[in-house]
Amino acid sequence: MRFFVDTADVEAIAELNDLGMVDGVTTNPSLILKSGRDILEVTREICSIVDGPVSAEVVALKADDMIAEGRKLAEIAPNIAVKVPLTWDGLKTCKVLSDEGRMVNVTLCFSANQALLAAKAGATFISPFIGRLDDINIDGMDLISDIRTIYDNYGFETNILAASIRSVNHMTQCALVGADVATAPPNVIKAMASHVLTDKGLDQFMKDWAKTGQKIL
Ligand code: E4P
Repeated sequence: MRFFVDTADVEAIAELNDLGMVDGVTTNPSLILKSGRDILEVTREICSIVDGPVSAEVVALKADDMIAEGRKLAEIAPNIAVKVPLTWDGLKTCKVLSDEGRMVNVTLCFSANQALLAAKAGATFISPFIGRLDDINIDGMDLISDIRTIYDNYGFETNILAASIRSVNHMTQCALVGADVATAPPNVIKAMASHVLTDKGLDQFMKDWAKTGQKIL
């Protein structure tokens, strides 16, 4: 499973990228707001750090305007994936930009039928939002699993990009049900390294090592 980082925080991206943990980046208008940066400027900087796909989201609502915005965003760098919402106009935009050979990430997906339409429109990525479904008492992981089955049934090549990830458990579940990519905030990716028994075991090793009176360096 590929890891994308769900942030426009350049320092956090660079830190994880240095560790080889970053296969791509996703941003959205809320994350751009949080960064306090200009969308074109910060996206260009992210693309200079990360080799993999960097999603940048259009904000127009009509297809013609979305297509124009998508083309402008795609000019930032070759690794831009234009992010469009899963609306009828978003699907039209997906088809046009995909036919031009651009990567398209169809976002705000909350049903298997939506994912089926995005695949037929040539999406490179479909972004089902797990956390926001969990928020309304619908199991977001069931959606990832259903999309996996449907795409495999018909050989669709659209990548399932599990989004709206809120916990380390989401990451494990995504890997188990076969998401192609999971995009998670930096704190969730870092938290994957933690385990209470690791901390406890290390503490004991340190105490015992001190008793040996030895040094390695
Ligand atoms: C990523 O593409 C999405 O925009 C993001 O994961 C949404 O996450 P949220 O539901 O925590 O805002």
